[in-house]
Amino acid sequence: MAQAILFHTSKMLASRWLDAFARLEPALDIRTPANLGDPADIDVAVSWRLPPGTFPALPNLKLMQCTGAGVDQLLIDPELPPDLPVARMVDPLQADEMVAFAIWAVVDQHREMAVYRQDIAQQRWTFRPQRSMRKRTVGVLGLGSMGGVLAARLAALGFDVAGWSRSAKAIDSVTCYHGDQGLAALLSRAEILVNLLPLTPDTRGILGATLFAALPTGAMVINLGRGPHVNEADLLAALDQGHLASALLDVFSVEPLPDGHPFWTHPKITITPHIASLADPDHAAPQVIENIRRVRAGLPALNLVDRQAGY
Ligand code: GLV
Repeated sequence: MAQAILFHTSKMLASRWLDAFARLEPALDIRTPANLGDPADIDVAVSWRLPPGTFPALPNLKLMQCTGAGVDQLLIDPELPPDLPVARMVDPLQADEMVAFAIWAVVDQHREMAVYRQDIAQQRWTFRPQRSMRKRTVGVLGLGSMGGVLAARLAALGFDVAGWSRSAKAIDSVTCYHGDQGLAALLSRAEILVNLLPLTPDTRGILGATLFAALPTGAMVINLGRGPHVNEADLLAALDQGHLASALLDVFSVEPLPDGHPFWTHPKITITPHIASLADPDHAAPQVIENIRRVRAGLPALNLVDRQAGY
């Protein structure tokens, strides 16, 4: 029987993935939803999310390889077969890009750049008092392959850094918290909070009224996780009441952000269009090919997701 890959991703990146596959493994038989051939041939699907009706049509699928680091968009698909192994991207280059973006976001908030942007647009030459990084506590939610590196690099820059994860972790020069009590302790100190948690049923809406109230007055919130981590109405209320000073958001519950959404123009919100860090096909394709080889050799894929935990 033929063995083929089902490949489906955004138009923006598709040709770069296909070029990388062609260079690394020219013999791969790659199909798309529009050009599926015999669905029984497909043993591995490579995608961010598959179009409705695709999973039930693939009787011999052995691996769902996600092209993203976050797999929440796949795990909520009611058609995803319950026992199908799902692998995610764990790409050090993607983590580095995320860390660089997050450092920009932290410095943007730390130095109150949104206020400067507004002043400069009005041709106003102003100075804000400069806080030392050493006196600024940054809290990082999620200490996985991205958050863990971010916490260490922020500490190396000189910020006072605290991190929180579900299970206990230890990172040099970072105060690490875990569990519910640990979360309360971190929030009470975090003047700038960066979210890099995976989106799971436990973390959906975590950036909401209760969490905001636990942050110090004047705190700043950065969301680089997923849009549904944020309760949007609660965020607007916390900003408008002055409890939070500002927010920087890269991800949204509905993407693209709908026309007329209040986040577009809110003076205390800086938005970016889900660009913090996508896997670079040239760098990430080898791990996809390795997983295809492993599945075909009867070995477990690398970077498998714990479907119960959701990441
Ligand atoms: C991007 O959002 C990813 O999950 O890789």
